[in-house]
Amino acid sequence: MFTFIDHYKNKVLLSFQDHPYSKNPKHVWVICRYMDQWLLTSHSRRGLEFPGGKVEKGESPDEAAIREVKEETGGIVHSLRYIGQYKVAGKEKVIIKNIYFAEVRTIEKQSTYFETNGPVLLPFLPDDVSLDGRFSFIMKDDVLRHSLEYIKQYVRTVTW
Ligand code: GTP
Repeated sequence: MFTFIDHYKNKVLLSFQDHPYSKNPKHVWVICRYMDQWLLTSHSRRGLEFPGGKVEKGESPDEAAIREVKEETGGIVHSLRYIGQYKVAGKEKVIIKNIYFAEVRTIEKQSTYFETNGPVLLPFLPDDVSLDGRFSFIMKDDVLRHSLEYIKQYVRTVTW
């Protein structure tokens, strides 16, 4: 388990175990690959981030992950793998998110991308995302760094 402080000075717990903080988390975050690139979305307020959001009523977290990728990028998830969970002790509430790694094989143009401006493909992520003003705060703490290391080590052989 990892513990650190995020961009807003909130405490974050991160683990790559099987649902350590909640069996039914209300939020999801999906690290997406499309061909040889990262598939992100451009959030209208927060900037570039991997897609994600809230689990809706009657939906499982896995279903929410697939839906959020489609809504925010137009990406059709080909494979989805749960990799871990994190818990943020926010100022007003505690947020628990499932982290996924998804492979997208098709990107379909959407009539709306909801609160985002749609898909952004990047061949590389910056070495230190926290120094790059284009990125959202959710990309700027150690969740991203540890998750990428986990994917590289355990999920598949990816070169980036
Ligand atoms: P809306 O109902 O969509 O307006 O939600 P909200 O703006 O209240 O945000 P949400 O409930 O998603 O998150 C509440 C707070 O939790 C945010 O303001 C952040 O401080 C924190 N938070 C949410 N998601 C993340 C995340 O992925 N990483 C980190 N570090 N903090 C997060």
